Amino acid sequence: MHTSVTVRPATRTDADPLIAVLAEAFHPGPLAEWLIPHPDDRRTVYHRYFTDAFHHGLAHGQVYTTGDQTAVTIWYPRPTPTPTDNPRRVEELEGIAGAYAPKFVLLEEMFDAFHPDQPHHYLAYAAVDPRRQNRGIGTALLTDYHRRLDQLGMPAYLEASNLHNRRLYLRHDYTAGPTIALPTAGPPIWRMWRGAPTGSGRTLFPPTRPRRRSL
Ligand SMILES: CC(C)(COP(=O)(O)OP(=O)(O)OC[C@H]1O[C@@H](n2cnc3c(N)ncnc32)[C@H](O)[C@@H]1OP(=O)(O)O)[C@@H](O)C(=O)NCCC(=O)NCCS
Repeated sequence: MHTSVTVRPATRTDADPLIAVLAEAFHPGPLAEWLIPHPDDRRTVYHRYFTDAFHHGLAHGQVYTTGDQTAVTIWYPRPTPTPTDNPRRVEELEGIAGAYAPKFVLLEEMFDAFHPDQPHHYLAYAAVDPRRQNRGIGTALLTDYHRRLDQLGMPAYLEASNLHNRRLYLRHDYTAGPTIALPTAGPPIWRMWRGAPTGSGRTLFPPTRPRRRSL
């Protein structure tokens, strides 16, 4: 762990810098290019998308940042299976992403459909300011939260959108399950599970079964 990183819960006063961190960190990469090929459009939509994600995280999840506001994680404790159908979500995504909404809807539906039913905490977003990446800040945030999960005996779940992240999470005791294959030439998404600690290791990746018949 990076010794100079302090981790603390985020509040509304962190909104502007942390929404910028989220939008900038997620701007490059195969998933971003699939969602919105044009970089300028992506910048505009991502700012709206992550404004919504940040405030949703504060209201319904657990949001953490660093003392210098250069990184953010948004976690959702999911002690019971979450209902997948939010009738307002399509409308919300149309307001956020306009013409690009169909792919966001598809992505969120796929993520929901393959979400494990077992109790866990879901890491929806982890982002470090691109100018500060590869210095151990992401590792510090993850380590801090994982320590609490291990004390609770609680697993963690996330979707990794590229091989670099997948490698990072493997080092944090996640195992990779079957990928989610997005249609229309979307990139592979790796489902990853960090089991609860047992005497001899960690609990195994739960069996996968799509939660919606249509997918
Ligand atoms: C994924 C992300 C959150 C990781 O945060 P980070 O601060 O860059 O991660 P870390 O620095 O802790 O670890 C990344 C690399 O730095 C190395 N590293 C760790 N501690 C380090 C330190 N103190 N000094 C230098 N390098 C370090 C790690 O070994 C790792 O190397 P790798 O390339 O072999 O994987 C960040 O890169 C990011 O925001 N990416 C874009 C958004 C994204 O994809 N988020 C995840 C969605 S699944």
